[in-house]
Amino acid sequence: MSLPTASAVRQQFLDFFASKGHHIVPSAPIVVKDDPTLLFINSGMAPFKDYFLGNKPAPYKRIADTQKCLRVSGKHNDLEEVGYDTYHHTMFEMLGNWSFGDYFKKDAIAWAWELLTEVFKLEKDRLYVTYFEGDEKDGTAADAETQDLWRQYTTDDRILPGNKKDNFWEMGDTGPCGPCTEIHIDLRSEEERAAKPGRELVNADHPQVVEIWNNVFMEFQRLADKSLIKLPEQSVDTGMGFERLMMAVSGVKSNYDTDVFQPLIRFIAKEVGLEYHGTAPATVNDQPATENEKTDIAIRVIADHIRTIAFTIADGQLPSNVKAGYVIRRILRRAVRYAFSSLNQKQPFLYKLVPVLADQMAGIFPELKAQTAFVQRVIEEEETAFLKTLETGLRRLDALEESARANGGVIDGKTAFELSDTFGFPLDLTALIAREKGLSVDENGFKKELEQQKNRSRNAQETEQSDWVTVTEHDAPNVFVGYDQDEATARLLRYRKVDKKGKTEYQLVFDQTPFYAESGGQIGDTGYLESPLSKVRVIDTKKENDLIIHTTLDLPQDLEAEFLARPDAARRAQIRNNHTATHLLQAALRTVLGSHVQQKGSLVNEKLLRFDFSHFTKVTDEQLREIETIVNERIRQQIPLDERRNVPIAEAKNLGAMALFGEKYGDFVRVITFDKDYSVELCGGLHVQNTGSIGYFKITAESAVGAGVRRIEAVTAGAAEAYVDAQLDLLAQVRETLGNPQHLITSIEKQNEEIAGLRKQIEQFAQQSINQQKDQLVGQVKDLNGVRFLAAQVQASSAESLKTLAFNLRQAVPNLVAVLGAEIDGKPQLAVMLDDEIAKAGKLNASTLVRELAKEIQGGGGGQPFFATAGGKNVAGLGAAIAKAEALINR
Ligand code: ALA
Repeated sequence: MSLPTASAVRQQFLDFFASKGHHIVPSAPIVVKDDPTLLFINSGMAPFKDYFLGNKPAPYKRIADTQKCLRVSGKHNDLEEVGYDTYHHTMFEMLGNWSFGDYFKKDAIAWAWELLTEVFKLEKDRLYVTYFEGDEKDGTAADAETQDLWRQYTTDDRILPGNKKDNFWEMGDTGPCGPCTEIHIDLRSEEERAAKPGRELVNADHPQVVEIWNNVFMEFQRLADKSLIKLPEQSVDTGMGFERLMMAVSGVKSNYDTDVFQPLIRFIAKEVGLEYHGTAPATVNDQPATENEKTDIAIRVIADHIRTIAFTIADGQLPSNVKAGYVIRRILRRAVRYAFSSLNQKQPFLYKLVPVLADQMAGIFPELKAQTAFVQRVIEEEETAFLKTLETGLRRLDALEESARANGGVIDGKTAFELSDTFGFPLDLTALIAREKGLSVDENGFKKELEQQKNRSRNAQETEQSDWVTVTEHDAPNVFVGYDQDEATARLLRYRKVDKKGKTEYQLVFDQTPFYAESGGQIGDTGYLESPLSKVRVIDTKKENDLIIHTTLDLPQDLEAEFLARPDAARRAQIRNNHTATHLLQAALRTVLGSHVQQKGSLVNEKLLRFDFSHFTKVTDEQLREIETIVNERIRQQIPLDERRNVPIAEAKNLGAMALFGEKYGDFVRVITFDKDYSVELCGGLHVQNTGSIGYFKITAESAVGAGVRRIEAVTAGAAEAYVDAQLDLLAQVRETLGNPQHLITSIEKQNEEIAGLRKQIEQFAQQSINQQKDQLVGQVKDLNGVRFLAAQVQASSAESLKTLAFNLRQAVPNLVAVLGAEIDGKPQLAVMLDDEIAKAGKLNASTLVRELAKEIQGGGGGQPFFATAGGKNVAGLGAAIAKAEALINR
């Protein structure tokens, strides 16, 4: 039997909702920018949060899509189940349909049923549905309407009540939420179903009785103080797990047995030379009982994790040690460890899977295919780095086993922290390995250690913010007018207070504003808010979701007044120069280096521009010069800005706009063009009217920032002139210091030659002096207490020549004990040299001797038994030290 393909099933879903008047949109990038409450998209609705909250009007009343989601951090976290079971994933696709203030429970339920039973032809008596039973504490009632609606389609024994945990969906600690109805499917065999009704297994973690679809009826918003308020409109948010739907329509018992995972699994099995048997432990807490179970888990983990790793990197998040980057690193290391321990992969391996995945997803998520080489490079480098410490770390963990058992089966926090700090084992990896050994980890102890380390390196940054206070209601809030206006009148809509490390700031939102909020790498505007009673400084402007938030240190006195909002003009002009120069630079990079150059990050502020891009080798000096020349030519051509707003995305692509993976755009975009054959970009930033005003462009640095990513820093206009002036000043100083020679380079070369010659002469003189002294000193050697003894103050220009002298003497005189003292650069230095045999005999020891003698020169030292040296402070003590040597040997 051939399996239904992932692309066909996905398309059926989208076509179905298109036929119900839904607008189909592409998935947003999985990595979230501009939202402090969320690192990754964790559900289909996250990109639409603002539409539910009423911050922004929805572009369409009905939308459907498939969204890449990640559930590995925050409120929704499935990581521990992944690989052990057959239906949880780190990254998964969520198919969703949305109503923004349009249809509600009745249509949502009718269409869900129609799609599942008529399009996908799932058997009705395998489906179970749930409804919300109400919650006293929240003051929410039971959802009798949903219960009633379902009665049209199925029987009462398949309509089950559910509590707040299962049937009241919330995006996070705060945000839109509401009661939901879940659809579960029972995929067990007829016999199993006859033996135990499916209704008893709903929400009971049975691998074949799983939730496939959740329909949320968004009605409320959860505030920071935990209370609920009504949303302005009733909306619908649904999410169907695509991989589980695939399991249901394929008639198989595991997500991994569908077309979504099979190509990856076949590839892994072939590469490691094993078979995939499709076994799984009965529950997540069971350890694998057989070798097949063990390798199957590892293969599933890798097939799952590679999707997360590859797509987050493709969407612009590189692995790192903080926040979102650390989540990726943790998952990657978890996969590496499975490959290493269970599949015997001792060399980088995961990166080889990327092309398989890229081909599989090219039709729906082209971003991976377009960046395959880059993504592979990043993964391989990460694997290599972790494999260096993995083995030692695993051995350390083995060694710890016994003491952990003695400690009640717990690996203490300090050890777990050491594993993370020294061997790069993320806490969850240590916990996983511990679990396999039947141990646990003191996670609180770990957190304490981590906290202490954080406190050591910086003061913990604590931020507390109040809920928004509404000043003025407004229908069309938060409009950015800064493309056309350098100042504007504004009315305050709401504000909140933020306490940061004991410092108070305020965040203000207006009906309209000319202030640019930091985004797309461009820094936020600063400036003033002027009202009749006060003038308040705006220290930064940022975006949160799509709200433009002005940060101030004071609250204006007259909140309801009309403000004049005035960004700093000179600063802004320089930001414009740097932003346009960034576009000119990117186009030049693609001309000179090739079309593989993709933006990987950028910073534009009033001082400089910094541009990170994918490229595998150092950009040579000649290439940098060529890039500069192209950009400066474009500046001199005085190309006018061609700015188009609200361009449909398809049209933008036709204009040749560079696709920017990892940027979230609505269906309409702004296209910035400087010469349609040169630079066409989707961009929300501020630009010059004409490239001529940039004046001059100068690259100041080129460097590597990570695997396959290079960075260029540059300056423009006055800052570029200042940079060149500073370089010229430096050159003038060099000339002057060298006595203003006619040919600078020839003169420096000549000097270098002279210096080299002089050095050689000095060395020769030193050698001569040592030889002469050696001959004299040999004559001073006397017999003392059974050895040949010499103690003398000598001439030496360096510690090195003193050492040479001592070694030469030893060669010349058998059975020698020599103590030499010298004044080198104004400081006393001692050397003690013993004949090998004497040192071996052990009665005398050069280190001990030199330490004793060093007391006379107020110093210390040491070395080996046969040769040791000491330095000190008191030159006058050299004579005493030498005299003392004889006394010591004579004892
Ligand atoms: N937002 C809902 C969920 O993620 C549909 O389950």
